[in-house]
Amino acid sequence: MFETKIGSLIFKNPVLTASGTWGMGEPFADFYEYGLLGGVVLKTLTPSPRKGNPPPRLYETPAGLLNSIGLENEGFDAFERRICEENPFSLWKTNVIVSIAGDEEEDFVRLSERASRLPGIAAIEVNLSCPNVHAGGVTFDARKEDVYRIVSKVMEKASLPVFVKLSPQHDLVGNAKEVERAKACAVTISNTFLGLAIDSQKKSFVFARKFAGFSGPAVKPLALANVYRVAQAVSLPIIASGGVASGEDALEFLLAGASLVEIGTMAFVKPRLPVEVVEFLEKSCGNVRPTPLP
Ligand SMILES: Cc1cc2nc3c(=O)[nH]c(=O)nc-3n(C[C@H](O)[C@H](O)[C@H](O)COP(=O)(O)O)c2cc1C
Repeated sequence: MFETKIGSLIFKNPVLTASGTWGMGEPFADFYEYGLLGGVVLKTLTPSPRKGNPPPRLYETPAGLLNSIGLENEGFDAFERRICEENPFSLWKTNVIVSIAGDEEEDFVRLSERASRLPGIAAIEVNLSCPNVHAGGVTFDARKEDVYRIVSKVMEKASLPVFVKLSPQHDLVGNAKEVERAKACAVTISNTFLGLAIDSQKKSFVFARKFAGFSGPAVKPLALANVYRVAQAVSLPIIASGGVASGEDALEFLLAGASLVEIGTMAFVKPRLPVEVVEFLEKSCGNVRPTPLP
């Protein structure tokens, strides 16, 4: 299989799991060896533990999933303690990528610095698509100048390759250019799309927070268009995320200009999907990376 190099990091194949859909690996341990994948992205961690949003948190649509999890996680301190004591990632034989978010700008800087010192972590995915408490709850990537400033500060402190995950709700091309200008190693296109579910019988919103993140096969053409648009505008490596349900889908993202592909929602339906995608790419591409379309 063709390798992919991002910064100093080598991926044995271009298939990764997507943050938040794979937890910290536990539910998938029975299905495949993590070493078969190019990498795994862990659930986003915040400085303090988060309980997440009240139920319901998931809502299925004919070809997609709405989620309102609210970044439930154990918090960085607890994670750090556990990982330093147990050092589990060195056994996984794949690139383990830690995903971080915060309530304020400085959280990204502090957590990137601390994540760089953790044993067995290969890279950091900075999740800028979460709300900035001090800016009235808009996401950190709502303004281009904030993207540049935050990523630049992170780059000063992080000693591991940094990937920046953006939200599709804002100017993705403009933001990707800022991520490139701030010298991050890659940009992840993208987090979930903004969706809404209404219960017509109860005449009420399904989720307590009304809006939710939309993912799964329904978003693939949107994500593909975004990856292609960004690939035309930057030379920074792109990690695609959005609706991959098959090996063919992953190949389409590579042809659109992505270097790596993350798999999320559809692994809930087919837990072995990431491995099946690797097998498909191995058969159809062998050692030759597909050339992106012009
Ligand atoms: C239940 C659920 C939880 C998620 N949690 C996170 C998260 O913690 N951090 C993050 O960056 N993205 C999170 N995402 C977004 C996914 O990582 C992915 O970018 C998105 O779902 C699109 O890919 P997919 O269509 O393959 O799922 C979550 C998605 C789902 C469905």
